[in-house]
Amino acid sequence: MMIRKCLVPSSFFFILLSLSFPKLALANTPDKVGASACIACHSDQGEAFKKNIHSRTFPAIKKIAFEESCETCHGPGSLHMEAGGDRSKPGFATIKNPKNLKGAESAAICLQCHDNGKRMFWKGSQHESRNLACVQCHSMHSSKGPSLLVKNSESETCYQCHLQRKAQGQKSTHMPIKEGKLQCTSCHNPHGSAGPKLLAQNSTNENCYSCHAEKRGPFLWDHPPVRENCLNCHDAHGSNHDKLLKVKRPRLCQQCHNEGGPGVHVSVPGTPAVTYALERACLKCHPMIHGSNHPQGVRFQR
Ligand code: HEC
Ligand code: HEC
Ligand code: HEC
Ligand code: HEC
Ligand code: HEC
Ligand code: HEC
Ligand code: HEC
Ligand code: HEC
Ligand code: HEC
Ligand code: HEC
Repeated sequence: MMIRKCLVPSSFFFILLSLSFPKLALANTPDKVGASACIACHSDQGEAFKKNIHSRTFPAIKKIAFEESCETCHGPGSLHMEAGGDRSKPGFATIKNPKNLKGAESAAICLQCHDNGKRMFWKGSQHESRNLACVQCHSMHSSKGPSLLVKNSESETCYQCHLQRKAQGQKSTHMPIKEGKLQCTSCHNPHGSAGPKLLAQNSTNENCYSCHAEKRGPFLWDHPPVRENCLNCHDAHGSNHDKLLKVKRPRLCQQCHNEGGPGVHVSVPGTPAVTYALERACLKCHPMIHGSNHPQGVRFQR
């Protein structure tokens, strides 16, 4: 970074002045100095900002001239400038760095303009209440990905904190995120949502139906655990069993259908005895496990 020393008024002189003329103490509140003054010392950030979408949209949409842009986010900088880059001078810290501020204070800078759209449920969201700031995912001067993200992809941005999800993405079956067919935000809104778990929809099943519409029904014969929650049997991110199943078959089914020990069918005379079952056995005879529309499909055989 290029840094130039500036001539600063001696603070001794300043204190003397403000003692004799109390009104001058107001000089302790910083004024705006304009982008050119900032760029004189911060040419790197200045250049980076010129490539940022904000340098185009501030004037075009917000009617904020380029000269006013830095201080829209960083606050007025005259005292910081006078400190001439010397951290020990009290004026230095009057400049705001969104990266060093507490979550809510930092986000407030961005929410001046972005308190709408996808951020409708930011307040009270899981991320907001855990003190995340916008700048943990977005960068204004050194973004690497789309949407000004701090990492070169969306999932990498999330994996900064959600390592378990990264591990699941490597499992033998997983949502095709690394294949590029889906992103975390295909299902979640990291800015907050009306639904649970930051889901873009109002429930897990609504989320699944949004892409797997054929599972929505209505069916003549419903399988209750499917209606209740797809995640009774599937994992939403990745698993070591095929089809994202949480548990290996037939154990999956036997968790609930377990009368008489390892077998099922004991309560229905004339049904085959299934005392042991091969991995897919249940599905061979009960293939319509998500629900059936066949008049005789009450046991999901067709
Ligand atoms: C006289 C030179 C100078 C001027 C003018 C100047 N700065 Fe700085 N600024 C510095 C120096 C030096 C640092 C410390 C850099 C470092 O530690 O890497 C700094 C740090 C900062 C920081 C980081 C603060 C922190 O605590 O992390 C921000 C934000 C900043 N400047 C913004 C601005 C803005 C906005 C303007 C214009 C209003 C401005 N600066 C004007 C010299 C200047
Ligand atoms: C003075 C208003 C203003 C402030 C303050 C502001 N933005 Fe923006 N931002 C805009 C406008 C205008 C756009 C253009 C897109 C639009 O219409 O929303 C934009 C676009 C964006 C985009 C979309 C980038 C893309 O490639 O599509 C992101 C991300 C963003 N801002 C994040 C932030 C963050 C984070 C902060 C706080 C550090 C912030 N903004 C502060 C006005 C602002
Ligand atoms: C946990 C990570 C994360 C946090 C925290 C976060 N964002 Fe985002 N943001 C994203 C991702 C990922 C995208 C791109 C996907 C999308 O558009 O939803 C995005 C997109 C955006 C966009 C462009 C799309 C749009 O909505 O117009 C804006 C603007 C934006 N974020 C602003 C903000 C602001 C302001 C904050 C803080 C209040 C914030 N973000 C906090 C991850 C985050
Ligand atoms: C839209 C809001 C926004 C605008 C406008 C903006 N900045 Fe920043 N600035 C930030 C954020 C957020 C950070 C924290 C680091 C990051 O996101 O890259 C930051 C960090 C900095 C830093 C600290 C060094 C660093 O990279 O962490 C300096 C210096 C700085 N900005 C200077 C400027 C200057 C000079 C301008 C005007 C040309 C400017 N900023 C315009 C939001 C903004
Ligand atoms: C800076 C760290 C950080 C980043 C980056 C981050 N998160 Fe989070 N996330 C958290 C924390 C902290 C929680 C709260 C965890 C808890 O309460 O157990 C959370 C919770 C969540 C939750 C669960 C909400 C709930 O109700 O339990 C989801 C979903 C989520 N994050 C998605 C994302 C997505 C998608 C991204 C990337 C766009 C992302 N996160 C990036 C820190 C982060
Ligand atoms: C296909 C949809 C989908 C995708 C893609 C997806 N998730 Fe999720 N995620 C869900 C569902 C559904 C839940 C709710 C799980 C529950 O209720 O237990 C969830 C829950 C979470 C949770 C909270 C976990 C908990 O145990 O409470 C986090 C954190 C999370 N997801 C992060 C991510 C991240 C990071 C990505 C991207 C790498 C991602 N998700 C991609 C659907 C998805
Ligand atoms: C945004 C779209 C989307 C959402 C939402 C979604 N999925 Fe998927 N799902 C996909 C795609 C894409 C595939 C991969 C299909 C392919 O590669 O042929 C897939 C595959 C699957 C598979 C098959 C995996 C395999 O190995 O064959 C299962 C099971 C599945 N999803 C269940 C769910 C569940 C449960 C939910 C709700 C938590 C859900 N999906 C939400 C898009 C989605
Ligand atoms: C009772 C357990 C169970 C529940 C609950 C369940 N599934 Fe499944 N699902 C399975 C089994 C078992 C398979 C594997 C079927 C096969 O191998 O033929 C499967 C396969 C799938 C597949 C991939 C093959 C196909 O049929 O397209 C998708 C997608 C899927 N399920 C989505 C869902 C959705 C969406 C829900 C919630 C509405 C859901 N599942 C609820 C057991 C379940
Ligand atoms: C989370 C618990 C749960 C799981 C797991 C589960 N089921 Fe069910 N299943 C039920 C419930 C509850 C009913 C409704 C029973 C009733 O109406 O008496 C049902 C009904 C059925 C029926 C129709 C029986 C009847 O009496 O109407 C069949 C067949 C069936 N399940 C097969 C399976 C198979 C095969 C699997 C494994 C892929 C499976 N189930 C997994 C809970 C479960
Ligand atoms: C060889 C074919 C076959 C296999 C394999 C099979 N079933 Fe069945 N199942 C049937 C038939 C036939 C019925 C009775 C249908 C009817 O009443 O119309 C039945 C009935 C049921 C019922 C309802 C009656 C009851 O006992 O509650 C459930 C639940 C059930 N099966 C679950 C399973 C599970 C779980 C597995 C795997 C462990 C499985 N079935 C394997 C053929 C099979």
